[in-house]
Amino acid sequence: MNSAERFLQDFHQRRPGTTPPAFAGLSLAGRGSSYDILAATLDPLPPDAQVLDLGCGDGFLLEQLARRYPTARLLGVDMSATELQAAHTRLAGRALLLNERAQSLSLASASVDAVLSHLALMLMSDIEQVLQEVHRVLVPGGRLSMVVGREFLLGELGQHYLHAFRAAARRDGLAPLPLVDPRAQSQEGWRQLLGRHFKSLHFEALDLPWTPTFEALWDALGDTYDLDRLTPANQAQIKNQLHHSTRHLQRADGTLPTGWGLWLIQARAA
Ligand SMILES: C[S@@+](CC[C@H](N)C(=O)[O-])C[C@H]1O[C@@H](n2cnc3c(N)ncnc32)[C@H](O)[C@@H]1O
Repeated sequence: MNSAERFLQDFHQRRPGTTPPAFAGLSLAGRGSSYDILAATLDPLPPDAQVLDLGCGDGFLLEQLARRYPTARLLGVDMSATELQAAHTRLAGRALLLNERAQSLSLASASVDAVLSHLALMLMSDIEQVLQEVHRVLVPGGRLSMVVGREFLLGELGQHYLHAFRAAARRDGLAPLPLVDPRAQSQEGWRQLLGRHFKSLHFEALDLPWTPTFEALWDALGDTYDLDRLTPANQAQIKNQLHHSTRHLQRADGTLPTGWGLWLIQARAA
């Protein structure tokens, strides 16, 4: 386990369930949230299909899948025991939950009809090994659908945040933490990663609008991996700096225009 994976283990142990509050409320007109959009890629799903949510966290997507596909056999995998405890409570036995690493799945080969992953696969270390495992457990031609990060805080707000964060990271002497493989940061890189085991690759850029007040923005940023690594004094400093540098972006109702840039990637096991 490398330093990035150790950090993720520790973060999710301390702070389970931070992703759904940040993303469930953001939506694209007519298509719903990124969880809805991901779930919809399974339509039409055969009645007894086996569906795996990889990096399922507190089970928010699995709960949606249970509602949408009442006869599907649902599986969730996550390496964080605390996230899975929350998923157990949420799902009340509706899905089989496995506390294991995606790099080494206990599932039988060719046993899963579809693998979904929401904002998790791009964080997994040794991503080639993970994709090999996903391919192994999928039936031939089985579906892989994932939502992954593309751009954090769209527009000018994002530039101000990056500027402030980089200065704060320097002040704290923060060592770089490679949470995302460089290849998982571009469409070309994803094509390279997926090309070995998957076919029929399809990419769609999703820009989910978000218009928080400054306080709502700051609350949400407080749940991100980056800010979690800064000292409290440095967090207070970055907050002031960001408040100041984004004041001109604030609209009459006090909100700031931004959004989350995501990829919806779909593929079939070759
Ligand atoms: C940002 S959270 C997303 C949770 C959930 N999919 C959602 O969107 O609500 C990422 C999740 O991936 C899990 N994770 C990261 N690396 C993993 C790995 N190698 N194996 C299994 N789970 C992993 C983390 O424990 C965490 O629960």
